[in-house]
Amino acid sequence: MKILVTGGLGFIGSHVVVELQNEGFEVVIIDNLSNSSEKVLDGITAITGKQAIFEKMDLRDKDKVQDFFKRHHDVLGVIHFAASKAVGESVEKPLLYYENNLNTLIYILQELSKKESSHFIFSSSCTVYGQADTLPITESAPIKVAESPYGNTKQIGEEIIKDTCKILNNLNAIALRYFNPIGAHETAKIGELPIGVPQNLVPFITQTGIGLRDQLSVFGDDYPTEDGTCIRDYIHVVDLAKAHVAALKRLIDGKNQTNYEIFNVGTGKGSSVLEVINAFEEVSKQKLNYKIVGRREGDIISAYADTKKANEVLGWRAESSLNDALLSAWNWEKKIRE
Ligand code: WQD
Repeated sequence: MKILVTGGLGFIGSHVVVELQNEGFEVVIIDNLSNSSEKVLDGITAITGKQAIFEKMDLRDKDKVQDFFKRHHDVLGVIHFAASKAVGESVEKPLLYYENNLNTLIYILQELSKKESSHFIFSSSCTVYGQADTLPITESAPIKVAESPYGNTKQIGEEIIKDTCKILNNLNAIALRYFNPIGAHETAKIGELPIGVPQNLVPFITQTGIGLRDQLSVFGDDYPTEDGTCIRDYIHVVDLAKAHVAALKRLIDGKNQTNYEIFNVGTGKGSSVLEVINAFEEVSKQKLNYKIVGRREGDIISAYADTKKANEVLGWRAESSLNDALLSAWNWEKKIRE
């Protein structure tokens, strides 16, 4: 069975390709290499021993997308990661985000709508909830007004899929709302490759640990939480990748209850920034240099998933602990700096 993974050389995409190949799927990757490198393909092959088909392509080119689906008419399903994902950048460049994140989604759905039957997994985000009123967050939590164009593209993307699935009975879709993906494959052959100064907490921590950054700035310790720092649900990227395979199999096996379903994908456990720092010091066996600074604009106080639906309906559960994930991130950081 041939599966297209767009953005398949990215952080989450590459880990999903590994899990798909481990399950015997044939994988075609489309990536425009704007936020990844072709070397990631070697890492994937080194892990699985299998060679995915790779096509460098920008999905904003509608003709190229149409041509791809003509050439790969046997694509059974699509897992769609290709999108711009930096919250701060999206505020500076809204049109780039709306064009890249929405046009590409529309062009792919247009091609899938022509097929007799197809399966579609959408990379969504807990960012659609904003600051939820109730924790842990369930899939029925209200969608808040997006805090950034990036978050808005995830909300609009879900609406586009929902409206399309309403009128098409040949398209089955699942949106996975990720919490905070961290870590790397246990082989340290693939992992997160942030370009420039990392925006996210864990890569900044590991780069500080390795000496690439002098000091981590903790964005605020005056929040209404136990230790004053923000709480998030940090999920090992391999656990997240396995959730994609579970979702795809659910659709292929026809187990979905409707042709558009949504699942939160997290551990169900919230960790504060200081707890993450302490866990990193424990697994790396070294102190981390950090200082408390002012709050970061747009940060929500606390978010962690209610994982009941994913556990009981999707039949998937996160298996790795925060320490496991941080150790894998640390091993990866050390490997790429060798
Ligand atoms: C986590 C916590 C920061 C960096 C973002 C996107 C989300 C998803 C994941 C794409 C916060 C604190 C961070 C630092 C810090 N991306 N922090 N110092 O903001 O929860 O989610 O990335 O889908 O959509 O919004 O993740 O890792 O940036 O921050 O103190 O140098 O770490 O304030 O409390 P976030 P994050």
